[in-house]
Amino acid sequence: MSDLLTLNRFFVKYRGRLALGLIFVLFANYFGLLPAQITRKAIDFISTGTHHNYSDSAKTLTLYALGIFGVVFLRGVLLFLMRQTIIVMSRHIEFDMKNEIYDQYQKLDMHFYASANTGDLMNRISEDVSRVRMYTGPAIMYLVNITVMIIVVFIAMMNISPGLTLVVLFPLPLLVILIYYVQKIINTKSEKVQEALSMLSTNVQESFAGIRIVKSFSKEKDFAALFHSQAKNYFNQTMQLARINALFIPAIMLLVGISSVTIIYYGGILVDEKQITYGNIAEFVIYLNMLMWPVGMLGWIITLIQRADASQRRINSFLHTESEIKYNNTGIVPENVKSIELKNVSFSFGKNSDPALENINLQLSTGKVIAIVGTTGSGKTTIANLVSRLYDPTQGEVLVNDIPLKNMNLEWWRRQIGFITQDVLLFSDSVANNIAFGTKEYDTESLTAAAKTAMVYDEIVHFKDGFSTMLGERGVNLSGGQKQRISIARAIMKQPQFLILDDCLSALDTGTEEQLLQNLLPYFQHRITLILGHRISSVKHADEIIVLHQGKILERGTHLSLLQQNGFYAKMVTEQLKKQAVKS
Ligand SMILES: Nc1ncnc2c1ncn2[C@@H]1O[C@H](COP(=O)(O)OP(=O)(O)O)[C@@H](O)[C@H]1O
Ligand SMILES: [Mg+2]
Repeated sequence: MSDLLTLNRFFVKYRGRLALGLIFVLFANYFGLLPAQITRKAIDFISTGTHHNYSDSAKTLTLYALGIFGVVFLRGVLLFLMRQTIIVMSRHIEFDMKNEIYDQYQKLDMHFYASANTGDLMNRISEDVSRVRMYTGPAIMYLVNITVMIIVVFIAMMNISPGLTLVVLFPLPLLVILIYYVQKIINTKSEKVQEALSMLSTNVQESFAGIRIVKSFSKEKDFAALFHSQAKNYFNQTMQLARINALFIPAIMLLVGISSVTIIYYGGILVDEKQITYGNIAEFVIYLNMLMWPVGMLGWIITLIQRADASQRRINSFLHTESEIKYNNTGIVPENVKSIELKNVSFSFGKNSDPALENINLQLSTGKVIAIVGTTGSGKTTIANLVSRLYDPTQGEVLVNDIPLKNMNLEWWRRQIGFITQDVLLFSDSVANNIAFGTKEYDTESLTAAAKTAMVYDEIVHFKDGFSTMLGERGVNLSGGQKQRISIARAIMKQPQFLILDDCLSALDTGTEEQLLQNLLPYFQHRITLILGHRISSVKHADEIIVLHQGKILERGTHLSLLQQNGFYAKMVTEQLKKQAVKS
């Protein structure tokens, strides 16, 4: 259980609430005892009081009844306060934990994300945290409550009759063991039920998502058959679980019943011997019932704690994952970016994998547009990832103003970059917020200007709510080209010193592409620009074109000089011209 101990820092942080909660537990249990004692008094009053007249007796009994009512009410209030303090504390802890985990997600580098799967990432922050919350909230609350109750009831019983106490307590250990094992069976069964259910829903989800493929391949019957067999499996698992549950409660009731009978039998003998009163028998029966439910819950609480521990172990190991690329916010912050250089850079994704880049030398400087052209998989995006320091080179180094990028303040560096990525991601938010994503404060003019430069303005104003139109699942669906142009507007809006366009013109027709590049020319003048693409039309105006093939630089020069060389680039040009001729 060592992993749960790491949570103690939260208990220290919220010690006020915890302490208050524990005080409420103590008082709630004290008031929990009183009904049994008042009942005993009432019964003794009747069984010994031969001298009372009827109306006096009725009055006294009414008072006892009111007393029980009042005590139960007070106990209810205290239990409410107990929940309000301890459960609320667990929600605070949950909130803190989620933030901690989320911050860690933001710190981790691309190496981590390359090997993690999204389901696991989501589980850490939702499923695992809520399991841990079951420990910091309900489990601790009930555990303390039960412990206090058992002690308090035990003392009360021992004060009356140690012999009878033994009779009450005798079946309890048996019950705990029984419940623990049955609970274990129930847990494995419920996990099987969960598994069956999730298989069922994955199948349903996939058949909905892929309904067009299912139909076009006439696979409806096969999918229905699969669904039936999985539904059958789910049904069988649920039935097994129901059968165990059906046996479980009656078994407990039987044990309680046997104990009650024993109390009455043995208690009767004790009354005969004048050791206890009739009232004490009733009191003991109530105690027995009070003890049964908490003991019944022990098994449940133990599983809650075990699960929370497993989840906390995963969370801890995740929180201790070190990022290879660290945010050093103490690094150098130059006034502006004048040049970027890749010096003998090689890179491979894994220790044993083939190099994705080999011996790359590259100079970028303000006012210059450098383009890298190459087929898919040639390593263009990898170069962009290295200069934005999503990865560090395996060999060689990246220099900014002749200073190693590793010595720069990383947060500052990322703020200087406008990276228009190949796969566009827009958030489920308004068009305006998507464009202004990297910008803290902005006015409508700059928003309009950015949209105009990126050639999406006309389309945006025709949307239902203009710039306030929502994107994503609950909003409009955009075409690939529109998404790309919005992401270009986003980069323009950010006014970065260093702009990377990664294959972001490919969804545009060549006419639009030409116009867009023209629009961007004045914008390129005061910045460092890197254009990546596989189409000649995207790169031909660049000051230098670098031809990349299988991670190596084959040729470099201007459009004209490369044509004259009549090498790889010239071949690409002829091929692309041929394709265009076929299309038109
Ligand atoms: N996360 C990754 N893990 C392993 N290999 C990768 C990863 N990303 C890209 N690659 C490989 O690196 C090479 C270069 O990819 P990339 O830079 O994306 O090329 P481009 O952008 O020119 O299409 C390709 O062979 C690709 O399969
Ligand atoms: Mg790419």
